[in-house]
Amino acid sequence: MCQSATKKFDTECHLFDEKIQSKNDFEIKLNNTIEHGDCRKLISKFHDDTIDLIVTSPPYWAKRIYNGSGELGSEETPEEFVKELVNYFNIFKPKLKKTGNLFVNIGDTFFGSGAGAWNKYLDENGEITQTQKDRKEKFFTTKPLQPKLKQNGKLYQNKQLLLIPARFAIAMQDSGWILRDDIIWHKPNRIPASVKDRFNNTYEHVFHFVKNKSYFFDLDSVKVIGANGNPKNPGDVWSINTQALDGDHTATFPEKLIEKIVLCASPENGLVYDPFLGTGTSWIVSNRLKRNFIGHEINEDFINYANQRYNKNF
Ligand SMILES: C[S@@+](CC[C@H](N)C(=O)[O-])C[C@H]1O[C@@H](n2cnc3c(N)ncnc32)[C@H](O)[C@@H]1O
Repeated sequence: MCQSATKKFDTECHLFDEKIQSKNDFEIKLNNTIEHGDCRKLISKFHDDTIDLIVTSPPYWAKRIYNGSGELGSEETPEEFVKELVNYFNIFKPKLKKTGNLFVNIGDTFFGSGAGAWNKYLDENGEITQTQKDRKEKFFTTKPLQPKLKQNGKLYQNKQLLLIPARFAIAMQDSGWILRDDIIWHKPNRIPASVKDRFNNTYEHVFHFVKNKSYFFDLDSVKVIGANGNPKNPGDVWSINTQALDGDHTATFPEKLIEKIVLCASPENGLVYDPFLGTGTSWIVSNRLKRNFIGHEINEDFINYANQRYNKNF
């Protein structure tokens, strides 16, 4: 199913199909399109070398069940997840302009974390309980059981921080991407966890990748005022509160995080793509900042929610 954004943009979600004859057609018509489905398939309709910025937050490994079995994030091992995730970005890569940017927000997972605790969401027959059903109703997601991997005394040990963001960044480098930055998104309003034998996690990574050594980057647009009153580089630790939505998606980007990225990594009237649209934060921010936008989302509830949210904002 495809969602029409607003009449203001006169969006036609299906105009890709045979209708796009030339790259020019594509650029003029496709200013604002969100579509329901698997991003790997949907992106194939787009011409190569057209996207200025891909900014996204994929599902993390074994954190949430958005859609059911076989989805990204439900791989048996962290290594398989990383491999799969890199495959996704390599599918998008030809669509990114040579001067384009890719920003990926990703968080980490502890081996075995909460694995026992999740049992309370299953009944004695291993079926999903009413609690889980209610949660799905409210948040569109359920809590997953981490795959039951045998502990091996190495990476697979209970309590082990898996360093999935680092493994992903290295795997992206190995497949040819240039890693330009590892930005730390510090969350000052993070609710303290109940852990007693380590520090509370208060940050996630935002990796900045490019295809080529020369790429679009407007640092001036995001400079901050320094102690001497002059504009300065804002640095690579960004303290931005998580943002609660009136809706129920539990893993949304704060708009401020996306604003910074869209401003410095895409030109006005450029094209921004979010393959894992979720509740539509990147869509709203991109349009507010006068960028064209493509978004894909496999969960129909989310895309409906994103559409409603968008219409409230414009
Ligand atoms: C972490 S959430 C994104 C949240 C988003 N940044 C926001 O602000 O709401 C990841 C999303 O990716 C979607 N997803 C997972 N696999 C997908 C696929 N193959 N194609 C499109 N969307 C997918 C999930 O349904 C989920 O909504």
